[in-house]
Amino acid sequence: MLPHPTLATHYSTPEAKPEFVNQLFDKGAKHYDGVVDWGFLRSGASYRRRTLRQHGLRPGDHLLDVACGTGLVAVEAAKILGTAENITCLDPSAGMLDIARSKLAANFVQARAEKIPLADNSFDFLTMGYALRHVTSLEETFLEYRRVLKPGGKLLILEVTKPAGRVGGFLFRLYFGRIYPFLTRLFTRSDDARNMMRYYWETMDACVPPALVLQALTAAGLTAVQRKVIGGLFSEYTAIKA
Ligand SMILES: C[S@@+](CC[C@H](N)C(=O)[O-])C[C@H]1O[C@@H](n2cnc3c(N)ncnc32)[C@H](O)[C@@H]1O
Repeated sequence: MLPHPTLATHYSTPEAKPEFVNQLFDKGAKHYDGVVDWGFLRSGASYRRRTLRQHGLRPGDHLLDVACGTGLVAVEAAKILGTAENITCLDPSAGMLDIARSKLAANFVQARAEKIPLADNSFDFLTMGYALRHVTSLEETFLEYRRVLKPGGKLLILEVTKPAGRVGGFLFRLYFGRIYPFLTRLFTRSDDARNMMRYYWETMDACVPPALVLQALTAAGLTAVQRKVIGGLFSEYTAIKA
C-alpha cells in the first residue's frame, strides 16, 4: 500500500517517487532545520525528546532512527541515551545525512526504509520522524522494521495528521498549504525550501487515514499497535515486536 496516491504534478509513476523525493530533500537540506524550527513554534526539539522518553527510550538502548534527515530525532535521543554511539541514523538523502553527521557521532547509513541494509534483531528501539509519507510501500517498510527490531523491541513513528473536523481541517489547510510555504519562501528566499514545504503539505493532505497505517502495522506482524493523538494534529504510532 502506498502512503498516498501518486502525485502526478511531481512524478509520473510510483517508481519515480524515490528519485524525486531524494532531490527535493538534497536541495532543501540546508534550510530544513531553520524552517521546521519556526514553523512549529520552536517546539520541535522538546516535543521529540519528551515523546521519546514517554515511549520508553532508555540508556543502553540500541536505536535505529529511520529517515533521520538532519538528525533532529537522533540528537534528542542522544541526550536521553547519554551517548550517540548506539544510534544508527538511516536516510537516502546525502544532503540531509551530511548535516546530521555534523551534529552527532552516530553510525550513518545511506538507504531507504523499504530496504534496510542491517542485520535482523539488531535494535531495541526504532524511530521514524515525519517521513512515513515518503516510502513507496507501507507493508515493505513495516516488515523491515519488524525484521531489524529485537524481540520485545519498540517502534515509534511520528507524523503530522490532517485533523478530522471541518474547522481543524480548514486551519490545517490554511497554515500548511498556504502560510507555511509562503513564509518559507519569504524567509529563506529559496524556491527549493518552498518546494520542500509545499510537498510536505501535499503529502499530508493526500495521506491514507491513520486506520490504514495501524492496519499495515498489524499486518506486518507487529503487536500492541497503537496511535496516540496530540492536539488533534500529531500522531504517535507505536508497536512492539513480540
Ligand atoms: C521531513 S524529513 C524528517 C527528518 C527528521 N526525521 C525529523 O524528525 O525532522 C523526511 C526525511 O525522510 C527521508 N526519506 C525520504 N524517503 C525515504 C525513504 N524511503 N526511507 C527513509 N527515509 C526517507 C528524506 O530524505 C528526509 O530526510
